Amino acid sequence: MKALILAGGKGAHLRPLALQTPKPIVPLANIPFLFFQIDRIKRAGITEIILSLSYQPRKIMDIFGDGTQYGVIIRYTHEEEPRGTAGAFKAAENLIDDTTLVLNGDVLTDTDLREVIQYHRGLGPEATIVTARVMNPAGYGLVEADAEGRVLSFTEKPAEDDVTGDTINAGIYVLEPSVLGRIQPTGPQSFEREIFPAMLHEGARVQAFLTRAYWQDIGSPAKYLEAHFGIMSGRVKLPAHPQRACPPNSWEKEQVSIDRFSILDGGCVIKPGVVIENSVLGEDCRVEEGALIRDSVIWSGTRIKPHAQIQRSILGRQCHVGEGARLRSGTVLGDKSIVSDYSIV
Ligand code: GTP
Repeated sequence: MKALILAGGKGAHLRPLALQTPKPIVPLANIPFLFFQIDRIKRAGITEIILSLSYQPRKIMDIFGDGTQYGVIIRYTHEEEPRGTAGAFKAAENLIDDTTLVLNGDVLTDTDLREVIQYHRGLGPEATIVTARVMNPAGYGLVEADAEGRVLSFTEKPAEDDVTGDTINAGIYVLEPSVLGRIQPTGPQSFEREIFPAMLHEGARVQAFLTRAYWQDIGSPAKYLEAHFGIMSGRVKLPAHPQRACPPNSWEKEQVSIDRFSILDGGCVIKPGVVIENSVLGEDCRVEEGALIRDSVIWSGTRIKPHAQIQRSILGRQCHVGEGARLRSGTVLGDKSIVSDYSIV
């Protein structure tokens, strides 16, 4: 069996973070996101992976190459114009000859994909959709299934008042090749809005596999931050990732306070009096005297001047936060942003 990862979306809801860095490779705990998915797929015993790209494909291909470094075979498809989730699957038709595992390239999960595949093989539907229960289902696709797991309805991104359940489409599917025949040969089409509802309408068998494992998408800054909390708290494990030669970090242990949940990449310089709690710092960050970083994610090469305070915020690459500045909860800075001394954001 092969797996196809849908990784060609524009990631508009993750701007400004996903402007220079396509969403599938934004760093999660300093690891390009797709590694988490490739690792999950490998654990399910699948080693042939198709990456379906459209937005900034070269940046993604440069990281993953032909996959041999990660013990998998990676092939690519590329749409000049994005064809939507189903259109992207259709664009890979010449690489697909069997039942296929399809994943949205922006979901972080501990779901055992082998179990999902067994479930699909055992029941023999045309499509199996992994579903998850979430606290706030607004903004997701709702899936309603009967007691045997047979899908009864899809409601894509209902308005808040129309939310009737808490079970959502988790963006992971097992599809028979016959699904390809339901997708137009050209133009954009969506699984969620068009193909799956049409399948139900025509009486095709679509099963839901409800995962109880950790599940979180990274489609918006708040969700991206939440995924980091999932990792730092140990609710989801880090994938096997090829080791890089990281330069050592530099700080005097007795003079700084860095809690055990925080993750710092190599080359960081942390000055005395700094407090870092529940946060991730990328490579080569510099945090100066008395600064505080709490519940935040900071990408590589960023400089935090003395006594700045950063809470529940996300900072892109090579930002500069001035002395005494305060970044309050919900701040999101794109690459190379500059916050002047004593500003309040
Ligand atoms: P937004 O622009 O913020 O809505 O994000 P998105 O473009 O990623 O769309 P969405 O979250 O609905 O996409 C779900 C998954 O499908 C993501 O992993 C996308 O990368 C992927 N995807 C969405 N549209 C396309 C497309 O046209 N082509 C390909 N190859 N993948 C797509």
